[in-house]
Amino acid sequence: MHATIRSLAMLAVMAGALVSSWALAHGDVTPQAVDVSSLKPLGDAKRDENPYRGEKEAIRVGTSAYNQNCARCHGLEAISGGIAPDLRKLDIDKETDIYFRDSVLRGKVRNGAVYMPPFEGILSQEAIWAIRSYLDTRHEEEAAPVSPMEALARKSNCLSCHAVDTRGVGPAYREVAKKYAKDKNAEARLLAKVKKGGAGSWGKVPMPPMDTVPEQDLKTLIKWIMAGAN
Ligand code: HEC
Ligand code: HEC
Repeated sequence: MHATIRSLAMLAVMAGALVSSWALAHGDVTPQAVDVSSLKPLGDAKRDENPYRGEKEAIRVGTSAYNQNCARCHGLEAISGGIAPDLRKLDIDKETDIYFRDSVLRGKVRNGAVYMPPFEGILSQEAIWAIRSYLDTRHEEEAAPVSPMEALARKSNCLSCHAVDTRGVGPAYREVAKKYAKDKNAEARLLAKVKKGGAGSWGKVPMPPMDTVPEQDLKTLIKWIMAGAN
């Protein structure tokens, strides 16, 4: 069951990456309109803070809107299977409200590859804040304690797409270590690849260039990955 959900979500990611006209895609990946008629109208001006936080009706509308539009990648009940970030970890504050709103409106598009489709013009402002209200109810603190290396990987944004043991948008780090275990030049090659981004080693979905991460951090991360990401 779990594996099926995961591979369906993976297909959705692939479709998102490869079909530029996301909104016109068929079947599972079609974004669903959300009925917000039971919620207080918010008008056109973008809010910087969730106006519905804690409201029962918003949470109800948000639960169904989440299941229809987000669960296929971010997981049922917001429990990520490693495909996309675990949205239970988002902090509950104004700064994160703005980050959430803009992530949903703009999607996550890097170098032309769609990792998450933009929802601007598809979801109303009411629907977006209703989903945020639902996610607040699923909030969980970061599973502590994380190792310093895992913290560096998280800070460098690697864990949006990678996990140690399971395949997400990108390969599991243990798979990478295994694949190149006998290759003496692997570390240098992987450093260049991560800086520049690219596809082809694991599939058609490209890794974006990670060149905003300091080179020293990338070297440290790749050594850690090649040593088994323990
Ligand atoms: C096709 C798969 C897909 C769908 C559908 C999708 N997302 Fe995403 N989302 C992703 C991926 C992959 C990332 C990480 C991408 C990156 O950082 O480049 C992401 C990132 C995010 C982030 C940033 C999280 C962080 O920790 O930085 C938020 C917030 C988010 N998504 C919310 C949503 C919401 C809400 C919906 C539904 C309205 C949704 N997403 C639908 C795949 C998806
Ligand atoms: C937006 C998603 C995304 C982010 C963020 C990301 N990666 Fe990747 N990564 C991928 C994908 C997709 C692949 C598979 C590329 C391929 O098939 O060649 C990949 C592949 C890799 C590989 C194996 C490359 C190969 O040629 O075998 C390494 C090592 C790697 N990533 C490390 C990192 C590190 C370190 C970071 C953070 C600094 C990072 N990735 C951030 C998506 C991502």
